[in-house]
Amino acid sequence: MKIVVGCDHGALALKESVKKVLAELGMEIDDVGTYTEDSVDYPDIAEKVCGKVVSGEAERGVVLCGTGIGISIAANKIKGIRCALCSETYSARMARAHNDANVLALGGRVLGPELAGDIVRTFFTQGFEGGRHERRVGKIMALENK
Ligand code: RB5
Repeated sequence: MKIVVGCDHGALALKESVKKVLAELGMEIDDVGTYTEDSVDYPDIAEKVCGKVVSGEAERGVVLCGTGIGISIAANKIKGIRCALCSETYSARMARAHNDANVLALGGRVLGPELAGDIVRTFFTQGFEGGRHERRVGKIMALENK
């Protein structure tokens, strides 16, 4: 599976540890930056990552900023994106099983690398349950056109 990953300056170190975990899971990784400590605007990173998910260039994405909040809000403004901000594994599991989230958001100033690794492993190994959740996800997506 190809995963596109992007962060702002608030999550550079966590992005690197997330990439290691994704590589261990056998994922192909596309890192769209940022690559330095220079300040950047997280909506620009969300747009880059989510653009590749929506176009189908990547199957799923991971976005990171200091808290994960700003970049997840930005990601969810993009049509076709269901981005889940997770800071524990139960939410990561449910984000996939019930919400069919296609982008995971993490906070570089909130999470340590061990917990973030568990969240990533959970998010990328849990499948969507479908059934009644399919109908609800369909209703979420219909909101984009209202
Ligand atoms: C950048 O300083 C910080 O605002 C950003 O990384 C993020 O936490 C925003 O939600």
